[in-house]
Amino acid sequence: MNYAQAEKMLKSCGQEHVLAYWKKLSKKEQAALLEQIATIEPKSVRQCQAALGVGVENGCRKESENQDGKAPKVAELKGAALKKAIAAGEKELKAGRVAALLVAGGQGSRLGYDGPKGCYSIGPITGAPLFYFHARKILARSIRYGAAIPFYVMTSEANNEATVKCFEENEYFGLNPDDVFFFTQGMWPGMTKDGKIILDQPGHVFMSPDGHGGLLAALKKSGALADMKKRGIKSVFFFQVDNPLVEIADPAFIGYHVLEKSEYSLKLCAKRDPFEKVGMPMQFGNIFRMVEYTEMTKEQCLRKKNGKLYFLYGSPAIHVFDRAFLDREASKAMPLHLAFKKIPTVVNGKVVKPTEPNGYKFEKFIFDILPNAKRAAFLAFEQKDEFSPVKNAEGSDSPETCKADMQAKWARWFAELGVTVPTTMPLEIDPVYAIDAADLKSLGLWLAAD
Ligand code: UTP
Repeated sequence: MNYAQAEKMLKSCGQEHVLAYWKKLSKKEQAALLEQIATIEPKSVRQCQAALGVGVENGCRKESENQDGKAPKVAELKGAALKKAIAAGEKELKAGRVAALLVAGGQGSRLGYDGPKGCYSIGPITGAPLFYFHARKILARSIRYGAAIPFYVMTSEANNEATVKCFEENEYFGLNPDDVFFFTQGMWPGMTKDGKIILDQPGHVFMSPDGHGGLLAALKKSGALADMKKRGIKSVFFFQVDNPLVEIADPAFIGYHVLEKSEYSLKLCAKRDPFEKVGMPMQFGNIFRMVEYTEMTKEQCLRKKNGKLYFLYGSPAIHVFDRAFLDREASKAMPLHLAFKKIPTVVNGKVVKPTEPNGYKFEKFIFDILPNAKRAAFLAFEQKDEFSPVKNAEGSDSPETCKADMQAKWARWFAELGVTVPTTMPLEIDPVYAIDAADLKSLGLWLAAD
């Protein structure tokens, strides 16, 4: 892109001020700015402006819209139903029709770790990074079922290089590099409330990752969706980088999804308290929609049925998508969610760090495609077995609580074999050695009970 093209594009969406300091920039800065402008699509700028034009609530529904929402039917698989789902899932895994999809483009600002969150050390004994546990689980399942589970990893511009390096330095944690596909999510410019793009340097636009919903556009643009199709993938297991307890490509969940002919399936767990900060799916007539905790009234949060919360279940963002559904949704515009933030900005050529929020960041959320699913399915699971995210540096949902939960889970596997592991004893299991209690048993470790 040259100057004239950049000017024309910016004028088309009322953003020519982005070039205000052009003449004061060095040649290198000019080239970098043009490169950045080339990544901004006028269509996206107009979408952000439209979202701002009607206020913060656009893209995030108004609370009153949720009043008619009902709790969806959530399956709790047991006995024969569980066996049937596992068999159906195993059939998919053996046929190589399952992929794993990780969103790892977030900034991890609450954890405050300087690097991709996936590189954060979490192994209680080895200090292995979060990526290790994800990759080794995928490897373990692909060994068990004798078929590759291609692994698609979404990064952001800020952490792509470091993420790829982490995989390379660790020899892809044992995975075949041909089955690992990195792709980078989009970035959106920040804007003032008047819809003007914010410069955080005279020659630099403030941009931030476009949210985990940016996944769809990025899957399509990068060719990852086409790659899935070429490989004959039918079910795509989606998960987040910060939860090492997640049971990736869990056969019961895959099987349930397939048996239900679902396009979008969600694992749900009982909320730890009525006001837990998780989204929850609600049913409106024939469609489902994820309602954020901020959109719930106090009465809705506390409503009870049979002594249990009426909206008992929250979503920890563990999903299975039908690949064709992702394909269908990838070309559609998604609603925008706005966050009002303190964004460094250039005033009269000088960078000013605001003390109060002054501009908007825009994000897309993957669960906004839920209402578009022709069929959706919901499956309950035990939080302690599958969800313990690393969100904060300390306190709840921190590395400390996560490591304790990982060790408690492994200790429960030993307990099933009659072996008591003292809580003070550090414990870590490589998923390739044992991905569940049955695997441990097959290793003969139960003998330790004698
Ligand atoms: P979070 O909402 O927890 O955000 O992301 P975060 O960036 O990791 O952490 P904070 O809020 O800055 O502290 C949930 C999942 O979505 C991914 C994250 O990497 C994580 O796996 N994500 C989030 C993206 O891939 N891209 C984004 O733009 C945002």
